[in-house]
Amino acid sequence: MNNLFRSVKPVETNFKPDASIVVFSGAVEEFIAQIPDRSIALVITSPPYNLGKEYEDRVSIEEYLQSQSRLIAQLYRVLRENGSLCWQVGNFVEKGEVYPLDILYYPIFKALGMQLRNRIIWKFGHGLHAAKRFSGRYETILWFTKSDEYVFNLDAVRVPAKYPGKRHFKGPNKGKPSGNPLGKNPSDVWEIVVQDWDELVWDIPNVKSNHPEKTIHPCQFPIELVERCVLALTNEDDWVFDPYMGVGSALIAAIMHNRRAVGCEKESAYVEIARQRITSYFNGTLRYRPLGKPVYQPTGRERVAQIPDEWKEAMPTRLVERKGEYE
Ligand SMILES: C[S@@+](CC[C@H](N)C(=O)[O-])C[C@H]1O[C@@H](n2cnc3c(N)ncnc32)[C@H](O)[C@@H]1O
Repeated sequence: MNNLFRSVKPVETNFKPDASIVVFSGAVEEFIAQIPDRSIALVITSPPYNLGKEYEDRVSIEEYLQSQSRLIAQLYRVLRENGSLCWQVGNFVEKGEVYPLDILYYPIFKALGMQLRNRIIWKFGHGLHAAKRFSGRYETILWFTKSDEYVFNLDAVRVPAKYPGKRHFKGPNKGKPSGNPLGKNPSDVWEIVVQDWDELVWDIPNVKSNHPEKTIHPCQFPIELVERCVLALTNEDDWVFDPYMGVGSALIAAIMHNRRAVGCEKESAYVEIARQRITSYFNGTLRYRPLGKPVYQPTGRERVAQIPDEWKEAMPTRLVERKGEYE
């Protein structure tokens, strides 16, 4: 969007029903009472995973889920009847054992009568390599609705079809295009990169391997991930709420699409960055990866794609033969 047309909106520090943007500095448990019942169209968040990150104290999994279920009851209270909740989580790992958090969270939402519409797999190509299990390359988003009547703007998030020229080969529509000119449903497996290191390192040598959006936060959402949920699950002027907003990625996705945004965060350093990013968005200097930008496909000719000379003896033939295949 051309920044000439961006109208700067004030950022409130407490909830006001007629505000456009609210950023609260402090714990969600303290803040949430300010939000009226049934006012939020979309709650979207990535909660603390109890992994012992710098912003959390690790407790037992039972204690963690109990405190989360108290907060989730409050999130249910503020959600509109036709509203949605998107809960993005990965795994909790203890002594090498994996606890898939979405499975553990599911009964909490179900007990409130919420209905699961999709369990979205967010797949990314890179990350740490595990030694005693397969390396983890996805996280999930549980999309729940509060009722059967819910907003779903599929046309706003359709993606280009791989074979738009496909035609029906039998039946009454024989010979007519079988797809949709507006594009296809993006499905429940989303490939949105966490770090665009492939493009930045491979195409532009000597540039640091940072995603354009990266801040000091250890596990920030790509804005693009939230944009798709905002466009599909809300309408303009609706409220989008991230109770664990970190550096404000969900708020920016909401603001970009003319939704109202509310978030809170207990670490003041992240709140400050969220504020700066909102300001940068309005003045046109925020760097972000645009929605729908294809994930870079390496050609195999890049320097980092070559087999190192010192490995040539050690590498099994079956791997040498498959060089160039990227899974
Ligand atoms: C997984 S991160 C979310 C990151 C966020 N999606 C982003 O894009 O920056 C979870 C965040 O929740 C914050 N947090 C943890 N407990 C909180 C609480 N009780 N109230 C508010 N924020 C909290 C942490 O400081 C952390 O920034």
